[in-house]
Parts: sequence; C-alpha cells; structure tokens
Amino acid sequence: MNICVVGVGYVGLVTGTCFAEFGLNVTCVDNDPKKIDMLLGGKVPIFEPGLEELVAKNTREGRLHFTTELDKGVANALVVFIAVGTPQGDDGAADLHYVWDVAQAIGQNMQDYKVVVTKSTVPVGTGKKVAEIIQRSQKRPIPFDVVSNPEFLREGSAIEDFMRPNRVVVGAASEQAKAIMKDLYAPLYLIETPFVITDVETAEMIKYASNAFLATKISFINEMANICELVGADVQVVAKGMGLDRRIGPKFLHAGPGYGGSCFPKDTEAIAHLAKENDYRFQIVEAVMEVNRRQRLVMADKVIKALGGQVAGKVIACLGLTFKPNTDDMREAPSLVILPTLMEMGATIRAYDPAGMEAAAPMLPGVEMRKNSYDAVEGADAMILMTEWNQFRNLDLARIKGLMRQPVICDLRNVYQPERLREAGFTYFSVGRR
Ligand code: UDX
Repeated sequence: MNICVVGVGYVGLVTGTCFAEFGLNVTCVDNDPKKIDMLLGGKVPIFEPGLEELVAKNTREGRLHFTTELDKGVANALVVFIAVGTPQGDDGAADLHYVWDVAQAIGQNMQDYKVVVTKSTVPVGTGKKVAEIIQRSQKRPIPFDVVSNPEFLREGSAIEDFMRPNRVVVGAASEQAKAIMKDLYAPLYLIETPFVITDVETAEMIKYASNAFLATKISFINEMANICELVGADVQVVAKGMGLDRRIGPKFLHAGPGYGGSCFPKDTEAIAHLAKENDYRFQIVEAVMEVNRRQRLVMADKVIKALGGQVAGKVIACLGLTFKPNTDDMREAPSLVILPTLMEMGATIRAYDPAGMEAAAPMLPGVEMRKNSYDAVEGADAMILMTEWNQFRNLDLARIKGLMRQPVICDLRNVYQPERLREAGFTYFSVGRR
C-alpha cells in the first residue's frame, strides 16, 4: 500500500518512518526544501533516539521517500496523513491554517478515492472542516473519507510509542475507511494492541481528554508536594502509596517544576478555549494550567530560600535546560521561567544541558553555557537539577562538592536520595520531601 505523509515535523517524520518500517511504501512531503534536502542527505532535522537509523534503513530499502512535491505524493497514495504543525494562536486556540492549506492542496491534486487522515492534534470539528475544504477544492467530484487518528507519541520514546502503543484511536465515518486504517496498523494486531474505533469527533476529543488528564495528574501531585512540605510528609511515598491503587495508577505522579513541551501546555489551553467557545468553563483544566504556571515560581522561590533569602551576586549552576530528558526541545521548558526570575534578582547562571544548549542559548540570554556538569558547578553557590538526564544521576559528588563555593543542591526532579546527599556534605533541597 502507498501512503503519503504531509509535514516532516516531529509527528510526521516519526509516523512516516514507522509505517515504512511496517512495510508500507511511504512518501513524506514538506514544503520546506531545506528539510527535504537534509533528509535526502540522510540527516534527520530533529533529535529523537533511534530515528536517524530507522530513516536510513527504510530509505536504503526503498520504502521511504522524501519530496517537496505534494501532487506526486498524493497522486500515488491511498492514504494521506496531514501531520503539519498546529501552533497556538494568540487567543489560545490552535492555529489551523497549515491544515487548511494542505486540505486544499489534497483536494486540488486527487485523482481517485483517498483516505485523508488528521494526525496533528486538532480541535473537535476539524475533520468536518477538512472534508468541506477538500470537496470545495476538487476539480470534479471524487469520493474520499476523512479520518482522525491522533498520535500519542512522547518525545524521546516516539518510536517505541508508535511500535508498541497502549492503543490506536481511529475516528471515521465509513466502513471502507475503517478497514483501510486497520490494514495500515496490521502489525499491531500481532501484539494485541487495543483499537478504539469511533466517529471523527470522539477520536479528536480522546486526544485532548488524554493530554488534559495527564496534565491534571501532574498539577495534582505538584500541589500535593507543596502541601507535603508544609506538613512534613514525603510526596514520593505519597505518590507510591496512591499509585498502587490500580484505579489511580503509578504514572505521571512525579512532582517537579511542572509540565512543559509541545503538547500539554498547548492542548490544555486549546481544550479550555474550545469549552469557552461553547459557553462552558472547563474549571479543572483552568486550575491545572494556573498551578503549572505557579509551580515554576514556587521552584524559583525554593532556590532563593536555599540561598538564604537572596540571590543577588550569587552564582547558580543549572544542570539540564530542556523540558524533559532525551530531547533538545526547549518549548515551554520550566527553565525558561525559573532562570530569568533568578537573574532578574541578580544571580549569575551557568548551565549545562546534554542536547538543549543550542536551542536554549537564544531563549535564555545572559545564561552562560558550559561544556559539562563539572564545568557548570565550578565556583557556584548552589546547583539546580532542572532536567533529569541520566548522566546527572551518577555525578561524582565529592568532585562536585570540591568545585562548588557552597555545597547547596536544589533537586527539582527528586533524583537524589536525601540521606546520601546529606552524608556527602551537601545542604539538600528537593520537591515535597523533608
Ligand atoms: C506528551 C504525551 O505524553 C504524549 O502522549 C503526547 O502525544 C504529547 O505530549 P511529551 O510532551 O513528549 O508527550 O512528554 P511527556 O513525557 O509526556 O512529559 C510531559 C511533561 O510532563 C514534561 O515536562 C515532564 O517533565 C512532565 N512530567 C511528566 C512531570 O512533571 N511529572 C510526571 O510525572 C510526568
């Protein structure tokens, strides 16, 4: 089967490559010639473990192709995925003009029946509008179906999430489209992946509901952490105790500086906006967003308190800048609020991140980027553990202590064992623990 994926951003490239790995013949299209040239040259424009190898393998074996010519990609494909960006507009709603443009181009270029799939996260009702645009753009009436097939890929484990998903969600109106979608995902039947087959609107809603709920878990545990600190309880053990209840589950109960990235902040805004447009206030999600914003300031406060109430003239080392480990993505990273807050109060920041420094430098003017963890902590009055990269879990503590001016650690991800750090001579602060 031939498929076409429009948009070689994060979602599009992972989707196209993994479908090629499933044995399908995939053409990835993007209107940015630089990105396509890079991919044709065997380079992957995003940071995702394992992706470059998989792109190279499938290109070599002739199943994965890249082009800027949408008409060619569409002409040969039975299924066309729309995986272009849906940035957040000024009003909090998703900006869908890239999706509309692609829908129009598909309509103009199709010669026979197609299944057009929205993969980008789009507000409920987008599928219907895509169908209207395609119909209007066609030169003559040709049958087609519009399907919603939301992605649930996490950055850093996107390939694993695609190959072994918890579930596949397909929203479609016709039996023909549902059958074609099932064929695409045939390899997942072998591993007994559950499929949720529903209508387009419900599929679109599942994506928002899932992300808003996960964001809710994070804000919930972050508020629990703040309360734990007040009453002398340990949030890690509270989360463990809660998580063992199967109705709650252990995941996404890790307290820290709040969620970031390209999905949760945007999707919570978008679902709150969608509710408002329909004269409904989604109060839980509004509170989740507010708690997430406040949590960054709670963290900045923690650092200030750790340094005795003022940071003017102090040197602070920051390990990790990205919104989570195994990515170079700085979008909505907590560091973008916490570090400028400390700098405004007169602190000097020296930072190290294994993959994010190039992206971070222009977003964090004034932060000195260092070449490794030890270089960053040299002469520092405090060290912040901002992102839980594995390489920060096993630092040489004696060496760190020897390099710092004052052995103060603010562990915003609860990576270290409090007793061990105190035994090693550090003044240690973490999140929601004594
Ligand atoms: C997320 C969803 O998991 C994925 O299904 C969706 O398709 C896209 O958005 P991603 O943004 O890549 O994926 O990252 P994820 O691993 O889910 O983490 C999101 C944020 O939440 C990170 O900032 C992380 O640090 C934070 N987080 C996560 C917590 O603070 N605590 C937790 O317990 C879990």
